Amino acid sequence: MSSVQPTHTTHIVGRTRVLTGAKPTADLHVGNYFGAIRPAVEASLDKSKEVILMCVDWHGLTDRAKILEPGKNTAGLLATYLTMGFSLEDNMCIVQSEIPQIQEIAWYLSCVSAVGLLERAHAYKDAVANGKEPTAGLFNYPVLMAADIVTFDAQVVPVGKDQSQHLEYASDMVKLFNNAVGRPVLFEPKALIQETPLLIGIDGERKMSKSYGNHLPLFAPKKDIEKRCKEIKTDSKGLDDPKDPETCAVFQILKSFGSNESIEYMEDRLRRGTGYGYGHAKKDLFEEHERVFGSKRELYEHYLNSPREVAQLLSSGHEKARQLAATVRQRVRDALGLGIL
Ligand code: TRP
Repeated sequence: MSSVQPTHTTHIVGRTRVLTGAKPTADLHVGNYFGAIRPAVEASLDKSKEVILMCVDWHGLTDRAKILEPGKNTAGLLATYLTMGFSLEDNMCIVQSEIPQIQEIAWYLSCVSAVGLLERAHAYKDAVANGKEPTAGLFNYPVLMAADIVTFDAQVVPVGKDQSQHLEYASDMVKLFNNAVGRPVLFEPKALIQETPLLIGIDGERKMSKSYGNHLPLFAPKKDIEKRCKEIKTDSKGLDDPKDPETCAVFQILKSFGSNESIEYMEDRLRRGTGYGYGHAKKDLFEEHERVFGSKRELYEHYLNSPREVAQLLSSGHEKARQLAATVRQRVRDALGLGIL
């Protein structure tokens, strides 16, 4: 199949359009910060990139048992990215369900995608094997995700390894569509598979995840954060024993968000051991958490409780995103010979 790119796109010369999708989940934690939030914030400060950060609330609806969750969690997700410094200057932070063109384009993609292709999706098979309701929405998840990408002519899509098949599907659907209409209309994205090592949870065993209950939250009350830090599992080395930072969950968690100085300090103290026990390390972790996140707790609460202000902050980005989407939609409809009226 051909993979010639369209000649007319919405790209800006000198800037690479990066699309990041974030599902609206509750209680974002340090693992999310490390794997998704920090990379997106850093990309937003890079002038060679034009970042579209999209809260994918429609994707959240594909779990029928939790269909009311995405609506509730969107405000927290947006508040978190804004608080942690996502730059709106020349970037966009948008909510998927505010961009109706995505649904229309998803329909066109579904009309060139074989059922068999979707049946082979790992994420779908795993979800059903784990007892999720096999709704048509869940089945069509990869089509909607491909539509997210092509609707904005996204050039680069950073994702975790678990999403690589979805990105392959997006490329497949672009080719299927372009072939069906006989010319390159949709832009084929490049997947940027993030090799971020998974962060260990406070149980010192499994990856940090809300579903395992081993997470360290970002903006919970100070007392709770302190308690969770104290709960981190360690080995039983004594106060003066040299300790291995590589196998120490306290240090690994600190490394995911702390300043270089705080990381170097703890690493050195653990290795030397003398007079530095796990209790000290946990206290240092808590203090660094307070410095990085605790100091922004009020700002987070403010955004969380000021939906109008947030809508206002994001409005020009939504406007721009809708314009991009309208341009691509028109290109697609023209290629299909639709919309003659
Ligand atoms: N499926 C992605 C995930 O679970 C979320 C997502 C939806 C996404 N649409 C996207 C990611 C578009 C990147 C681009 O993480």
